[in-house]
Amino acid sequence: MTTSFVLAHISDLHIKAAGRLSYQKVDTQQALQQCIDQLNQLRPAPDAVVITGDLTDFGRDEEYAEARALLDQLDLPWFAIPGNHDERSAFRRAFADKSWLPQNGEFINWVVDDFPVRIVALDTTVPGQSWGEFCAQRADWLGTVLAQQPDKPTMVLLHQHPFISGIDHMDRQNLRDSARLAETLSQAPQVERVLCGHVHRFMVSQLAGKVVCSAPGTSHQVAPDFTPAGPAHFVLEPAGLLLHRWVAQQGTTTHYLPIGHYPGPWPFYDANGLID
Ligand SMILES: [Fe+2]
Repeated sequence: MTTSFVLAHISDLHIKAAGRLSYQKVDTQQALQQCIDQLNQLRPAPDAVVITGDLTDFGRDEEYAEARALLDQLDLPWFAIPGNHDERSAFRRAFADKSWLPQNGEFINWVVDDFPVRIVALDTTVPGQSWGEFCAQRADWLGTVLAQQPDKPTMVLLHQHPFISGIDHMDRQNLRDSARLAETLSQAPQVERVLCGHVHRFMVSQLAGKVVCSAPGTSHQVAPDFTPAGPAHFVLEPAGLLLHRWVAQQGTTTHYLPIGHYPGPWPFYDANGLID
């Protein structure tokens, strides 16, 4: 029998309060509602949902209240880490009842061990900064946690991308110390995937031989502008989510699903064979 595990991965919700639009243009609440509806309708249902940061736009309590009310509509277990738009203390207040939320310590790092694949989540945020950090203290934590279960397939979560996206204004706020992260990961052959957000685009890269996947945003996407010193712009391309599907005999395959309603499905075949 196949042992499998499906992890839905969403990111960068940027929820605002009182019906306000993100950057005065984007209805992030409606976008998240559509994403949640789509996640709830997936069959078979994923095993869990992870959110790789930026649950709110400005880290305010009222934004967390809106985000929480929407996320509570998920029929699936869900887990989250903060991003640079979050605020740790407000994040802690909003999710204080969640078993995965650490009760103490500076960082919102956690581990979920309830599934065939282990989820290890790293808080790379730096208060007041957009860039992320993987300091010696966090490296100690991650190294220790990964060494505890060296044979269990594992996915590592963080917010800021630990690679060069090619989008200049985002690469000036990526994960600093990615070489240190590479060093930690190189000692953990069980790590199947590194999952991040922050760039609001679906991208696949690598670090220390691990596949790194950045999730698209659930609302707006960062403009794919690769010109040096290009402007910090966003676009309303289709929003999306990722499904990381692990099977025991092969490992993880990642699917990208645009959020929204699209025509189909229709059959390729009828009673006469392939439809001509
Ligand atoms: Fe974001």
